[in-house]
Amino acid sequence: MYHFILAPLLCAIVPLSLALDPTRLVYQFPKGTWIENLAVRPSGSLLLTLITTPDLYLLDPLAADPKPQLIHHFSSSLWLTGITETDPNTYYLIGANATYETLSPTPGSNRIYRVHFPQPPNPPEISVTAVVENAVFLNGLVTLNPTTLLASDSTLGAVWAIDTTSGASRIVLQDSLMLPATDIPKLGINGIRLFSNHTLYFTNSAQALLATIRIHADGTAASPAKKIASAATGTFYDDFAIDRYGDALLTTGPGDSIEEVRRDGSSMIIAGAVNTTEIAQPTSAQFGRTLEDSHVLYVTTAGGLAIPIDGDVVVGGQVLAVDTRKSERFRMMGKI
Ligand SMILES: *[C@@H]1O[C@H](CO)[C@@H](O)[C@H](O)[C@H]1NC(C)=O
Ligand SMILES: *[C@@H]1O[C@H](CO)[C@@H](O)[C@H](O)[C@H]1NC(C)=O
Ligand SMILES: *[C@@H]1O[C@H](CO)[C@@H](O)[C@H](O)[C@H]1NC(C)=O
Repeated sequence: MYHFILAPLLCAIVPLSLALDPTRLVYQFPKGTWIENLAVRPSGSLLLTLITTPDLYLLDPLAADPKPQLIHHFSSSLWLTGITETDPNTYYLIGANATYETLSPTPGSNRIYRVHFPQPPNPPEISVTAVVENAVFLNGLVTLNPTTLLASDSTLGAVWAIDTTSGASRIVLQDSLMLPATDIPKLGINGIRLFSNHTLYFTNSAQALLATIRIHADGTAASPAKKIASAATGTFYDDFAIDRYGDALLTTGPGDSIEEVRRDGSSMIIAGAVNTTEIAQPTSAQFGRTLEDSHVLYVTTAGGLAIPIDGDVVVGGQVLAVDTRKSERFRMMGKI
């Protein structure tokens, strides 16, 4: 008699407990790999930039057994950082001569590369679009319009606009909320994302904050920057994604977690936890783009290479899929 009552109860309980963990490992690179940023192709595949080697990989997270494919080794740079799409077959990314230990690119080494995917089976076409001579540390990269990119300069505390047709560049944004701090002199403004075409969200790692700034069509400021949220003590925000409501899903670096910050500044950890390796020193995040995975936040990690988990644990750089439907109680408030 009892099992008739218990069976449905167990069915209800088991999926619920499984559902509590929204994070799934898609692929883990070898130990010593720092994945820095990603772009999601319309097909659903992820383009991954590495900091530990100047390599660009393609990974299909929806494949039964995802395996990264090397797209290109950028032998005239030592690391890769931000990446952005300008059309479904064209991406731009940042390369420079630096290492994660020092975060000090060689002066004059910051460049923007173009990666174009022609019709298969032709191989990707790689070229140098711009050398941003006076940039110090280019980090995040977004597309302002089809021929203009915006790049954050973490050490200058500024945003550059780069014209992809002429290769010309100039500083368009500078704000006190973008500056590094004396104790963390190299890592001010870090991730940047556009919400619609006139609000730039940015994180500042040294100041441990998320802020927004309204911009004109050419990227120059239409308002002073405004702070939205501060990271928890002992953590900071690295790169992030913006959902369709304008809420941010942020990687917390040393926090080993994903934090959602709504426009009103309220926030909550939706995946991972400090000193656990499930999300080991996350670096960037982007939503899936297919019907199948538009609710999935893809997260890249450094595996704790700069900030070991619990002080001494390092794992391989990870690509993770975080199901954002599972933080529904918080996410649905005010969204429906
Ligand atoms: C960057 O490093 C590459 C590879 O070592 C080297 O060929 C290139 O000359 C360096 N560029 C600059 C600007 O230092
Ligand atoms: C944003 O895009 C709209 C429509 O494409 C355009 O009318 C407007 O000028 C753009 N604004 C900026 C700041 O680029
Ligand atoms: C995480 O680990 C570091 C290094 O062991 C330790 O200093 C810190 O207190 C830990 N944080 C938490 C919340 O356990």
